[in-house]
Amino acid sequence: MSLSRQRVAVYPGTFDPITNGHIDLVARAAPLFERIVVGVAESPHKGPGFDLKDRIELAQICLADLPNVEVLGFDTLLADFVRRVGGGVLLRGLRAVSDFEYEFQMASMNRHLIPEVETLFLTPAEKYSFISSSLVREIARLGGDVSGFVHPRVDAALKKRWQRA
Ligand code: COA
Repeated sequence: MSLSRQRVAVYPGTFDPITNGHIDLVARAAPLFERIVVGVAESPHKGPGFDLKDRIELAQICLADLPNVEVLGFDTLLADFVRRVGGGVLLRGLRAVSDFEYEFQMASMNRHLIPEVETLFLTPAEKYSFISSSLVREIARLGGDVSGFVHPRVDAALKKRWQRA
């Protein structure tokens, strides 16, 4: 693999919505790579609460302070997206042991599909290890306070989405 590709990392996910855990992970990775592409997957099978355009826009707002980070949407195979943006590393977060089995399966499948790309795991700060987007959505939908888990603009979007402003 060329050195320049090794310097480009792709961080894929559904980001429905992006949480402080995701932001923490990107901030940790940003100094390690020349460029990070946050790939927002359409993930129709997950029945996302926010449409792809909104998920991309919220991620762009939350990551605007990191100049080497770019947010792009995709509705293809992740392997094809990684090739298209010239990525050499796939970045994933491991929050707990329970993430391992799924992540191991995905990393192994992606190694089969794009052998030239390595999957690299980072762990988010401990205080974010229990956050997930679906938990955040569920709490917001039922009127709970998620302001400690998401950027203020995401908090506002969640309130607007479920009419609890
Ligand atoms: N902080 C907080 N939450 C985190 C997190 C972190 N650092 N890392 C992961 N999570 C949460 C997410 O919020 C998400 O929560 P949810 O399921 O409750 O919504 C959960 O962990 C899963 O992680 P996520 O990053 O959203 O990944 P995903 O499993 O939805 O997406 C894709 C995985 C998009 C990378 C995968 O489906 C994909 O590659 N899709 C494209 C099609 C394809 O190529 N498929 C074959 C793959 S081998």
